[in-house]
Amino acid sequence: MASMPVTVDRAEKFEKVCGILNRFARRPSGLIPILQAIQHEYLYLPEEILTYVATSLDVPPARVFGVATFYAHFALEPKGKHVIRICDGTACHVKQSLPVLEALHAALGTSEKSKTTADMLFTVETVACLGACGLAPVIVIDEQVYGQVTPERAVGLLKEIKAQEALLATSSAPLAEQLSAEECHD
Ligand code: FES
Repeated sequence: MASMPVTVDRAEKFEKVCGILNRFARRPSGLIPILQAIQHEYLYLPEEILTYVATSLDVPPARVFGVATFYAHFALEPKGKHVIRICDGTACHVKQSLPVLEALHAALGTSEKSKTTADMLFTVETVACLGACGLAPVIVIDEQVYGQVTPERAVGLLKEIKAQEALLATSSAPLAEQLSAEECHD
């Protein structure tokens, strides 16, 4: 599972990127896996880091930004820990995907313009046909596909994730304390 977005200071941020670049021997041919690893770490590709990657690999920034914007998989804006994709293709639209989307926005306080919750836990996106039209309306949460979703079912899934997160927050507190006490050194 991807890690939670965290607020890190600038030095720590670049230290992590250096580690990723070193893992791929700073080879320009490793650009895509490098960007994947950075996105896995930060859940998106911060602009300043893309510039840093270009300098480190000695390639034009336009190439790095070109790759980052070409693949839909890469995000240039921060996303929530859990990404919910709602299909708005024709079959799903006909089978009432819009009420599902509205129910999710209402439950999360998100909107078409503001897709990510303030706590960075959820991002709600609409996407074109997911290729599972027989299951319409379809939503995908963190790569898990759910078919024939109703607004009630969608909100129920949110509640399940929130309950898991609450549990995780409780059980991981001692570990977090331990990690901060034991600082990481190379
Ligand atoms: S239209 Fe939604 S999966 Fe095809």
